[in-house]
Amino acid sequence: MALFGKNKKEGLDHSQILLPSHIGIIMDGNGRWAKKRGLPRKAGHSAGAKTFRKITRYCSDIGIKYLTVYAFSTENWKRPDDEVKSLMKLFKSYLEEALEDFKDDSIVVKFIGDKSKFDDDLRSLMIENEESSKDRNGMVLNIAMNYGSRDEIIRAVKNICTDVMDSKLLKDDIDEKIFSDYLYTSGQPDPDLIIRPSGEYRISNFLLWQSAYTEFVIMNKLWPDFEKSDLDEALKIYSSRNRRYGGV
Ligand code: IPE
Ligand code: IPE
Ligand code: MG
Repeated sequence: MALFGKNKKEGLDHSQILLPSHIGIIMDGNGRWAKKRGLPRKAGHSAGAKTFRKITRYCSDIGIKYLTVYAFSTENWKRPDDEVKSLMKLFKSYLEEALEDFKDDSIVVKFIGDKSKFDDDLRSLMIENEESSKDRNGMVLNIAMNYGSRDEIIRAVKNICTDVMDSKLLKDDIDEKIFSDYLYTSGQPDPDLIIRPSGEYRISNFLLWQSAYTEFVIMNKLWPDFEKSDLDEALKIYSSRNRRYGGV
C-alpha cells in the first residue's frame, strides 16, 4: 500500500489509509510555546488560534466528517484574570472573523459546553455562528468552550431526571444510546481518534463518556507548532492500530 504520493514531499495519500470519521484535539501547549520565546502566555494563545484555523481547514479538506477541538475547559477559569480576559478577547475576535472563513468550506459550527458563563456578546456570537452554519453540509466542527465532561454528564443526568418526572421518558428505557442523546455531542459518532499535542498523557476532562473506545495519540509538539504533517503522522499511527472493542 502506497502511504505517500509519488514522492514523500507530496505528503500522505489520504485515499490509501483508513481515515477516522471523528477526530478530537486537545489544543495544548500554548503557554509553554510562549514561555520558550520569552513572550506572554497570551501570545501563545494567539499563535494557537492560527494553528486551529489551519488544522481545521486541513481536516475539512481531507474529508474528516467531525472535528472536536478543546478550546477552554470548565477548569480553565481558575487561571489568572488577565489570561482569562485575553482568551475571551481572542475568542470574540475569532468568532467575528475567522469563523467567517469556514463558510467557504461549508463547515457546520457547534459549541459544546455551558454557554451561560460567557458574557452576552460572546454568547450571542456563539449562537449566531451556530445558526448561520447549521444548514451547511460540510464537516461538523465542535468547539469545546467552558466544556468539562463531568459537567456534561451531570447535566445529562439532571435532564434525564426531569424527563422521567415529566413522563417523557421511562426509566427502564434509559440505555447507552439514550444517555448519549443527552450529551452535547448528541447524534454524532464517538471520536475515533483523540490527539493531544504538548506531550501530556492525560484526558483533562475531555469527552470521557464518548472516548470509551477512542484511540489516543500523544505528540510532543506544542500546539502552536503543530503542522499538517503532524496531523498526517497521527492519521498514519491511527490507521495502523487494531481496534478490538473488547473482542478478539
Ligand atoms: C492550551 O494551552 C490552551 C488552553 C487551555 C486555554 P495552555 O495554556 O494550557 O498551554 P500550557 O499547557 O500552559 O503550555
Ligand atoms: C486542557 O488543557 C484544556 C484545553 C486544552 C482547553 P489544560 O492545560 O487545561 O490541561 P491540564 O491542566 O494540563 O490537565
Ligand atoms: Mg495546558
